Amino acid sequence: MKQLTFNFDKSLDFIGRKQVFAQEQQVKACIAALHNGTGKGNDFLGWLHLPASITVSELDDIEATAQKLRQSCEVVVVVGIGGSYLGAKAVIEALSGSFDHFNARSGNPLIVFAGHNISEDYLYELSEFLKNKQFGIVNISKSGTTTEPALAFRILRKQLENAVGKSVAKDRIVAITDKARGALRTLATNEGYKTFVIPDDVGGRFSVLTPVGLLPVALAGLNIRQLVAGAAAMEQATDATVPFAENPAALYAAVRNELYKNGKKIEILANFHPKLHYVSEWWKQLYGESEGKEHKGIFTASVDFTTDLHSMGQWIQDGERSIFETVISVKRPQRELDIPEDLEDLDGLNFLAGKRVDDVNKMAELGTQLAHVDGGVPNLKIELPELNDYFLGQLLYFFEKACGISGYLLGVNPFDQPGVEAYKRNMFALLNKPGYEAAHEAILNRINN
Ligand code: PA5
Repeated sequence: MKQLTFNFDKSLDFIGRKQVFAQEQQVKACIAALHNGTGKGNDFLGWLHLPASITVSELDDIEATAQKLRQSCEVVVVVGIGGSYLGAKAVIEALSGSFDHFNARSGNPLIVFAGHNISEDYLYELSEFLKNKQFGIVNISKSGTTTEPALAFRILRKQLENAVGKSVAKDRIVAITDKARGALRTLATNEGYKTFVIPDDVGGRFSVLTPVGLLPVALAGLNIRQLVAGAAAMEQATDATVPFAENPAALYAAVRNELYKNGKKIEILANFHPKLHYVSEWWKQLYGESEGKEHKGIFTASVDFTTDLHSMGQWIQDGERSIFETVISVKRPQRELDIPEDLEDLDGLNFLAGKRVDDVNKMAELGTQLAHVDGGVPNLKIELPELNDYFLGQLLYFFEKACGISGYLLGVNPFDQPGVEAYKRNMFALLNKPGYEAAHEAILNRINN
């Protein structure tokens, strides 16, 4: 069976192959720590075996729930933030038609997202959009207490109940949360919503292969079984028993670690297919939130090419040399489109007539890689045979596994996120949330003096 490949040849002008392979024992120790549960954050390793351990009955339940909502809803609002929305958004965007949103005949409900910001305009406009539409809500929060999704859910749930009545609304709401704790669990139990559990040992940004990612993906009419099958293949391909040189996740982790040690502090994930935009957003969270700790960690950035070659391309080519680039390359596009001949040839493009659009895109990709390497930017390449559910499943698991290894190489706990609490404390103090009275006084003094 085909598999994604990882190639780092175009980084070897900057780091030595020897240095990469010198990390073999250290990387193996990190993989062993993940598999034996002896490393930092070892109570959050449930993601490691999710692809192989998900059962047929779990998949059946997700698909049956999706089917029920699909029958009654034109629109489903997926409420969540961070790891509770980015995985689903990434998969849906990558695998859906670019214009499906505008195509009422696609046969699928429109999936929209909320609870990932606190914009009044966004929520107002969403609420206007939902007026007179049959809609449902999938509310996702592991803690069940995150402000952004809780606020959005409160507003949307009221709107739904007012529109269709409480008893119909109840059947159009699904909650995905902790098995016992949190406000969302209590609410779901009290209201009788259908629920799915986010396992205790799976953190938000590693949860795409739980109902957190799978239910919205199934709602969008996509094949979750193939997604999981692809991830399961990558689980095997990156297992502790696989030799270092053949394990793509081990190599990717080792190479980025070596580049980081050599002053490459920023990794730019690039694609040549706009459908991959949200895969990059998911990846940025995965690595940024996992590694950015103790004043260490590669800063994760992303670009969509060729679009961004006409903006950030300048910086990448000529700016400060603190970056490296990882390109997600797709070998074969899903569609075929030939470039037509034009009798007048006023645009001078007849030399391309008869070629496929992808032929041009591929030459842009190769030309960019060579230019960036010439400009001092090490280039890594992850190649997918195709952009489909199976290979996307491989890609997601590949990134997760490499992230665990890479975090351990860096010496941090890749599975916590203590830094995200700081803004919340200030926000609650400013809003005078019950329990924050002293902090409220202190913060008012701070900003008024
Ligand atoms: O990766 C993480 O753990 C975070 O991004 C969380 O997913 C995010 O903060 C949302 O948390 P919750 O699902 O508890 O609402």
